Amino acid sequence: MKTEVISVDKNVDEEKCYAQAVEILRSGDVVAFPTETVYGLGADATNSEAVSKIFEAKGRPADNPLIVHVGSKEAALTHVQEVSAKALQCMDAFWPGALTLIMQEKPGTFAGNVTANLDTVGIRVPNHPVALKLLQELKLPLAAPSANTSGKPSPTLAEHVYHDMNGKIPLILDGGATEIGIESTVLDTTCEPPVILRPGKVSKEQIEQVIGMVRSASQNKTNAPKSPGMKYMHYAPSAPLYLIENEARLIEKAIEYVQKKGKRVAVISESEYPTADYNFPLSTESLYASLRKCDSTDADLILASVESGMQQNDALMNRLEKAADHKWFS
Ligand code: TXA
Ligand code: MG
Repeated sequence: MKTEVISVDKNVDEEKCYAQAVEILRSGDVVAFPTETVYGLGADATNSEAVSKIFEAKGRPADNPLIVHVGSKEAALTHVQEVSAKALQCMDAFWPGALTLIMQEKPGTFAGNVTANLDTVGIRVPNHPVALKLLQELKLPLAAPSANTSGKPSPTLAEHVYHDMNGKIPLILDGGATEIGIESTVLDTTCEPPVILRPGKVSKEQIEQVIGMVRSASQNKTNAPKSPGMKYMHYAPSAPLYLIENEARLIEKAIEYVQKKGKRVAVISESEYPTADYNFPLSTESLYASLRKCDSTDADLILASVESGMQQNDALMNRLEKAADHKWFS
């Protein structure tokens, strides 16, 4: 299959691009598109054959449910039932935006493979003009996980999607770099108090200002993981990644130690290390691109330097710890 990439930012014939994307989606195939968090790999959420193509293209385990994207709160409400007052308040406060709400699905609304046959579903209204226009023209709910190969860093550029999906999907809508750079916050509103299953740009504090106390999934370890995706390895570059305290002397010594063994080191950090073989920037916006850049080098080992201030950034630390599989350099 040939994968076409259309630039929707600069395209003169925009209407035609969307018409093409809509036609592909309605015919039961998949299209990658930008959102404000990361690129998504979309298919008609009511068509199980179309949805199965997402799992196939990503190599995603079938027990990991997908997020459904809709164009408005009203559209979301047609697909769910027993919606809590807190879920409604979150919709008003954060949609369109980077917050996915887990709610009770109206039975039979989505294809069974969207929700991995759970009776709940994760829904959000993305805050991106291309995603919103696509949803508006499509008039169907769009199941869309991040558009990366399963286990790899999520795509923040159309080039990342092309790298992972070339030959596997018919169309990528290129809307430039995504603004936020990590996936949405996932909030389970089917329990009381609601639980953050995945931290993201929308913080616990911001949510608590709107609906009062919420729990974090990590504080809730006694229960079986409610978000099936949490048990899988994530965001991992090819070379082993280690976290390291952001102390220049410590990092310089680590670089020297690894290089003495004849190995090459890439450092992902807010500062540059002249003795490292490669340096890449570290921030929420740049993390995934930096992890992917490491893959295009011959680095044998990657160090990600963790600032003390960064430890307060739940979402960034969550992705870093997963990418490193919780390993610290010592
Ligand atoms: O920012 C995002 O959320 C991106 C963009 C494309 O919107 N999408 C995304 O989707 O990250 P995905 O499929 O890669 O992540 C979905 C997460 C997984 O951790 C999954 O396990 C969880 O949401 N999830 C989905 N449905 C769920 C449900 N019914 N109950 C619990 N967790 C659910
Ligand atoms: Mg993902």
